[in-house]
Amino acid sequence: MTVLVFLDTAFPDGRPADAGVPQLMINDLGVTRGDGIFESLLAVDSVPRKPHAHLDRLASSAQQLELDIPPRASWERAIATALRLHADAGDHGAVPGGRAAVKLVVTRGVEGAAAPTAWVQVTAAADAADQRTKGIKVLLLDRGYDSLAAARAPWLLLGAKTLSYAVNMAALRYARQNGADDAIFTSSDGKVLEGPTSTVVLARERGGVRTLVTPERKSGILAGTTQDALFRAAEAAGWELGYGPLVPEDLFAADGVWLASSIRLLVPVRSIDGRELAFSADLNAELAGLADTAL
Ligand SMILES: Cc1ncc(COP(=O)(O)O)c(C=O)c1O
Repeated sequence: MTVLVFLDTAFPDGRPADAGVPQLMINDLGVTRGDGIFESLLAVDSVPRKPHAHLDRLASSAQQLELDIPPRASWERAIATALRLHADAGDHGAVPGGRAAVKLVVTRGVEGAAAPTAWVQVTAAADAADQRTKGIKVLLLDRGYDSLAAARAPWLLLGAKTLSYAVNMAALRYARQNGADDAIFTSSDGKVLEGPTSTVVLARERGGVRTLVTPERKSGILAGTTQDALFRAAEAAGWELGYGPLVPEDLFAADGVWLASSIRLLVPVRSIDGRELAFSADLNAELAGLADTAL
């Protein structure tokens, strides 16, 4: 089941609504133009994981789109209401660990109206435990712009989590139709960017120094909250941190490569374009443990 709570100035804790019936106007700009932003976060036993990082990123996406969104306190209250309703419905018991996916969505609103449409929805989250231990196969896919496009063309909204995810979903379908589980985008100038719904992280050890590296954010990728949480925990545990630019050969030369995201968490990449990558179950467990403590 899906729990739905609209943000509505007349309802300080949010306005619960029936997710089983139509709730949006057909001329909502989120529907007709994909003009809006979203966040997906994990809740475990009704407790949201790193909500502040997600609300920070929602605010930063809103700023990029010049979108006037409800204040932070309204989101916090609506999230609490939605998680309470979800727990009351008993749905979380259907999934091990009571994992739920919490989605925050804001659109530019109904055409001609001044107010955004904003809601929180909660559904039981599938646990990707199998992928987290066994890993996945990935294809490198061309994202079609170069790694300097974000600075040169701010209207592309690179780095904002917009509702326009049709390209990301098409990339995932392409990967699956071609024998892989997921994709890593590369820029037209050959840099590693991100997955369609995840951040790329690699681990390497040189001269006894262990380093985690992720592509640099200025290459037009989303600032991953899971990668960031992992990096904070890893730094505290003695890891060095690095930020790209990365090229595919860096992935092949690494001691391990992972895709990090809020719901699926840390998934090891076992092969890219059919070429096997280094993998260590111990290192995978170590990083999974670090990511978990940081959330
Ligand atoms: C394009 C993209 N990059 C990275 C991520 C990972 O972000 P987070 O770890 O904050 O979920 C996501 C999450 O959905 C994403 O859509």
